[in-house]
Amino acid sequence: MDDITALILDDHHAFRRGFARLDDAKGTEALRAVWEPLATYLEIHAEAEEAILYPHLLKRGDPANAEEETEDAIRDHNKIRDAIVEARRHPVGSDEWWAGVWQARTENSEHLAEEEDEALPDFRKHASMELRADLGARWLRFYGEHPCAMGLRVRDKDPDKYIEENQ
Ligand SMILES: [Fe+2]
Ligand SMILES: [Fe+2]
Repeated sequence: MDDITALILDDHHAFRRGFARLDDAKGTEALRAVWEPLATYLEIHAEAEEAILYPHLLKRGDPANAEEETEDAIRDHNKIRDAIVEARRHPVGSDEWWAGVWQARTENSEHLAEEEDEALPDFRKHASMELRADLGARWLRFYGEHPCAMGLRVRDKDPDKYIEENQ
């Protein structure tokens, strides 16, 4: 059985590798080949966390911190989504495209560190192994149900409203 926090870490490693691969990509087609799947993967990951992880962190995490951890995550996910949208408005390889991609990269790096040092440790400490495994199975199903983000409405969310609806 897979623990949801381990599956999330696997994705985070893949994001870091993806951004590093962009450093080595030469030419528009090579850049597009790395960036497009990476951008979609980032979008699916954030939707999956918002659908599966954070509602449970809100209910089971440390009452003193879970709300703030969730609020930070939704804000960060919004910033990453916005940077991806910005990059997509420009031709791959252009200065404007790089600016959007770099924004996504730096926002994502900051967010991964926060999630790995705050939200995930909180969840590991307070959720049972059984729940972590159940959510791991849900996580895998979510990816199976939304290949290439199909059927997902990728959109920014109001952090306060999200917390209210998922508490
Ligand atoms: Fe994450
Ligand atoms: Fe996240």
